[in-house]
Amino acid sequence: MATYVPPVRQNSPYLPFGDKQDAPFYGKDILSVKQFNRENLEYIFDVAHEMEVMVCRVGSFDLLKGKILANLFYEPSTRTSSSFTAAMERLGGSVIPINEVRYSSVSKGESLPDTVRTLESYADVIVLRHPETGSAALAAKYARKPVINAGDGIGEHPTQALLDLFTIREELGQVDGLTVTMLGDLKYGRTVHSLARLLTLYDVRLNYVSPDILRMPPEIIAEIAATGTPQAEYTGLEAVLPETDVLYVTRVQKERFSDPQEYEQVKDAYVITPETMRMAKERMILMHPLPRVGEISMEVDDDPRAAYFRQMEYGLYTRMALLAAVLGKA
Ligand code: CP
Repeated sequence: MATYVPPVRQNSPYLPFGDKQDAPFYGKDILSVKQFNRENLEYIFDVAHEMEVMVCRVGSFDLLKGKILANLFYEPSTRTSSSFTAAMERLGGSVIPINEVRYSSVSKGESLPDTVRTLESYADVIVLRHPETGSAALAAKYARKPVINAGDGIGEHPTQALLDLFTIREELGQVDGLTVTMLGDLKYGRTVHSLARLLTLYDVRLNYVSPDILRMPPEIIAEIAATGTPQAEYTGLEAVLPETDVLYVTRVQKERFSDPQEYEQVKDAYVITPETMRMAKERMILMHPLPRVGEISMEVDDDPRAAYFRQMEYGLYTRMALLAAVLGKA
């Protein structure tokens, strides 16, 4: 279900004080980047920027005091899980952490709909990561409370794409006019699927650099083409690096391969080193959703253009903004 109907009536004395029920994301699921337009992206980013300023000034504040987030992760996560926890706690709310579903009733065979129905009995919003594409939409169908997709298999990772775009905006000042080059596993990489779609709302040029077996899926290429956004595919980085404003590197994801030999063939296809960065623009940024395993050499970390650790921090502010927005407090 896409829209959460609050359990109290508008004229009820129990209506939570301060809820902005006309706010654009109040009670909404966040399942796909397809639900955003430029106007509501700017709204999220303006709130995220305010969150950044507030965290720097006071650390935490009680905007979501009394609210509870259920953090339900069927797949491993460091950044998404802990940044949603930090976001809720910095806003004065609390978290039910289920990071190891094998210690929950999922291990007894409980279905996703029943697990979601259980958690919404205790929480105001559910963040879900699951290995199957479409799982967040399935959960949302059964939930009365907002569901936020924290990655569904090789499908989408919308909150990552939002924080990626916020990073570009904060680091380079604007998104229009940029050339964004995506490198690595573009077939299974849900972060690049979401980011490429979101970038079509802006005036950008997209380059995809990957081994042949890890090319951007044809249905996403077709979707991007239908928006008129220029895009091109390459197997080598050299041709496009000098014109690139944002180089977005992804990990080749061993866990997505059914044939281990195929993984071995492509796992070290690209490695960004200080030599690579010498061929890049002086004003550009190097991004990565992380974790990295070897595709960016640690020698690059001190390069001021290496934005991937700052990118993680922007994730905190973006997720604070999203939680405030879906809970009607932004
Ligand atoms: N970028 C990202 O989703 O990282 P985690 O898998 O650690 O959450």
